[in-house]
Amino acid sequence: MREQALPARRLILVLHGPNLNLLGRREPHIYGSATLEEINERLRRMAETRGFELVTVQSNHEGELIDQIQQYGWSVCGIVINPGALTHYSIALRDALAAVPAPAIEVHLSNVHAREPFRQRSVIAPVTLGQIAGLGPAGYELALRYLMDRAEEERS
Ligand code: DQA
Repeated sequence: MREQALPARRLILVLHGPNLNLLGRREPHIYGSATLEEINERLRRMAETRGFELVTVQSNHEGELIDQIQQYGWSVCGIVINPGALTHYSIALRDALAAVPAPAIEVHLSNVHAREPFRQRSVIAPVTLGQIAGLGPAGYELALRYLMDRAEEERS
């Protein structure tokens, strides 16, 4: 007997790493004035307009981010992730993203390539579709739009 196809889920996971809960009051000259709630709200509206749902999670804990990737990595059509400082050293987070089929896009508010040398290396980027850095909150929006377009193209 042929297996029934799983119902297509128009779900996207948005992950924010350590210290991003402080957006709006954390070094605003680098990270801007938008709060995390404002960023998430805008993304949620963008997704809803196109019939997608978002799961948004911020955590200061590496393991919590990994748990979310393991939980949703087989059921979402994409992952938008700003891993914060974990970008630069978390092999465990990289391995979690590599383990799941959902495509991921790495986002940074600031242009990490124009900052301290330790920020110019990402251990995450090689297991993602790509990286967007330096465009502020617009980077999240571009990543979300790309993943929604991709999910729709794959379904058509
Ligand atoms: C960041 C850049 C990281 O280097 C830093 O540790 C962050 C924020 C960004 O969005 O620009 O926490 O990911």
